Amino acid sequence: MNADLFAADREIIYSTDKKGQPQLREKAVKRQPGPDMSHDRQKQRLLDPMAPWLHTLGITNAKGDVLAASQDKWRQINKYLEIIESLLRAHPLPPNPEIADMGSGKGYLTFALFDFLKNNLGLAPHVVGIELRPKLVDFCNRTAQAHHMDGLEFKATDIKDYQPERLDMLIALHACDTATDLALATGIHQNAGIIVAAPCCHKQIRRDMQTQNELAPVLEHGILEERQAEILTDGIRALLLESEGYQTKVFEFISNDHTAKNVMITAIAGQRGVKAKQRAALDKVTALKTGFGITEHYLEKLLSE
Ligand SMILES: C[S@@+](CC[C@H](N)C(=O)[O-])C[C@H]1O[C@@H](n2cnc3c(N)ncnc32)[C@H](O)[C@@H]1O
Repeated sequence: MNADLFAADREIIYSTDKKGQPQLREKAVKRQPGPDMSHDRQKQRLLDPMAPWLHTLGITNAKGDVLAASQDKWRQINKYLEIIESLLRAHPLPPNPEIADMGSGKGYLTFALFDFLKNNLGLAPHVVGIELRPKLVDFCNRTAQAHHMDGLEFKATDIKDYQPERLDMLIALHACDTATDLALATGIHQNAGIIVAAPCCHKQIRRDMQTQNELAPVLEHGILEERQAEILTDGIRALLLESEGYQTKVFEFISNDHTAKNVMITAIAGQRGVKAKQRAALDKVTALKTGFGITEHYLEKLLSE
């Protein structure tokens, strides 16, 4: 029966009288400032959602809208590029960098990296995705060719068999269990200037662990032992990288809400020669192995071979 319309400068009231006749009144109100829209800005993205390869990989529709089912992946891609951008601002790559992405899977992050390096940074990258599953490799190669992404290729091979002549940046994102160690060892052996790894499914250390330190009583609970094994696996990886002269950082890649595989290790070369620091890192590895009854960390074994 009644309706009120509140505008910034007036109020318009619609009502009906006793006889059912409609009435419209207008009341001036003190002008209110409009809402502050300054926060309502478009988020600056490092990747254009209209990039056609995103559609081929099933992340966007033909109009460049991110599909509901791909929102997490889209967030992960963007977070990854933010990390890469800030890393490369401090440690730039050469103009024609050689990059390996070990365990590239369906290639979302490999394509994103190539697109970013080429179109945002203006580099001429050669990015090679290494992946065991030939079907994924064929699909990624066809997609790269269809979108004329020269310099991006995928090889169906085991990480352990890929030994490029030059490697400027080594990537290993969610490469299963010890595949991360194989990738890190390749990066170290090939003197990669930058290493970026997001490890996944830490089984090797868990099998080996016989904790003999003060944490032993709490690690009787399986879930706590599992988490401790993850911490040790990645912590020792970071120390081994330091023992090879890298400066490392370990941090949260993307919030737990999106994926449980959310730890990232970055390593920057350049400290070789600081022998005391390298030795100290190895001593810490030895102490950790003793305390947690670990006979061998797979990366340590690979580095000693
Ligand atoms: C969980 S997926 C991650 C894919 C992608 N990097 C990402 O983060 O979205 C891990 C991939 O590594 C591959 N992989 C595991 N071990 C490998 C190895 N030794 N050599 C090559 N690829 C491997 C698997 O086939 C799988 O596709």
